Amino acid sequence: MAVPLLDLVAQYQKIRDEVRAAVDAVLESQVCIGGPKVAECERAVAAYSDSKFGIGASSGTDAILNVLMGLGIGPGDEVITSTFTFFATAGCVSRTGARPVFVDIDPRTYNLDARQIARHISKKTKAIMPVHLFGQMADMDPILTLARDRGLAVIEDAAQAIGATYKGHKAGSLGAAGCFSFFPSKNLGGVGDGGMIVTNDASLADQCTVMRNHGMKPRYYHKCVGGNFRLDALQAAVITVKLKHLEEWHEARRAHAAYYDRKFAGCEKIATPYVEPHNRMIYNQYVIRIRSDQGASRDHVATHLEERKIGHAIYYPVPLHLQECFADLRYKEGDLPHAEQAAREVLALPIYPELTPAQQDEVAAAVLEAVGA
Ligand SMILES: Cc1ncc(COP(=O)(O)O)c(C=O)c1O
Repeated sequence: MAVPLLDLVAQYQKIRDEVRAAVDAVLESQVCIGGPKVAECERAVAAYSDSKFGIGASSGTDAILNVLMGLGIGPGDEVITSTFTFFATAGCVSRTGARPVFVDIDPRTYNLDARQIARHISKKTKAIMPVHLFGQMADMDPILTLARDRGLAVIEDAAQAIGATYKGHKAGSLGAAGCFSFFPSKNLGGVGDGGMIVTNDASLADQCTVMRNHGMKPRYYHKCVGGNFRLDALQAAVITVKLKHLEEWHEARRAHAAYYDRKFAGCEKIATPYVEPHNRMIYNQYVIRIRSDQGASRDHVATHLEERKIGHAIYYPVPLHLQECFADLRYKEGDLPHAEQAAREVLALPIYPELTPAQQDEVAAAVLEAVGA
């Protein structure tokens, strides 16, 4: 049986009527940019994330860029972030003219290792951007303490983690701002690109709101150079509908993760995801590590899954400090060894809510077969 990595058709079939009604309402109103649907979505996502303000964005990438610009980060500045993340995290830092400074990960959670941040802080550092990778929040307490002591902003790249919690606090609610992505493969995905900034800081919310519309306030008077970072009303309407189902989908993913955990328990060649006891992980991805120290090969397992038509992915094959476009930052192989090893060993398996037990059995059997267990 073939199993896809993600099956958005299965999700759509269950919510088709609600989504179509919401889309129709926008089309009938022809209020396609801004308007009540965007405002409703911003309120709903902010409330869900225990934040005062939500500012819709055209993508998760633009949410991050908007916040960086809203905080006035630019040439000559440095932003500390994880090397093991999707490119957008650091790409946005570079686009402002600032320099991304990469820190290695905690090899168990794949998140920025908070203990390593202090030695990377310089006079130029303006912000720390932890990434809540795969749906688990980074270790926020030491990051927030360090940032407070050194006068730095914390921007949460929560693109993969809407609804995750750290010691009971929602992703996005702890830093100066949090950024979500509504890319369709996210737990809360739109029908195209979209994103959201959440913040409790009224003046930052105001700055980002102005910035997302070319720095314009009032109309045709430009306070600063921003961009078109707006969320459109069709995406907002779909996101608002889907938000009502999000907790149920999170719980289904968590149950699937527990099922895989049981299937792989005792296999020394596979490391299942480690979740800190104080975290609620929402499993945007279920990522196992195929342990080379136990003689297993991730690439061999990936080939085996390919042959069996079992969906899988490698997030991420190259840590950002080794990306070609960052060659001028002069990192070299071996600089951030935990991330480099993770890049060689990680493998994401299907974890979408509609996955059936039979499909999960198929995936688990194929993985166990591939490692010779
Ligand atoms: C960690 C992380 N940051 C940022 C982004 C950017 O989001 P988007 O694709 O909506 O621009 C993503 C999306 O994949 C992501 O996973």
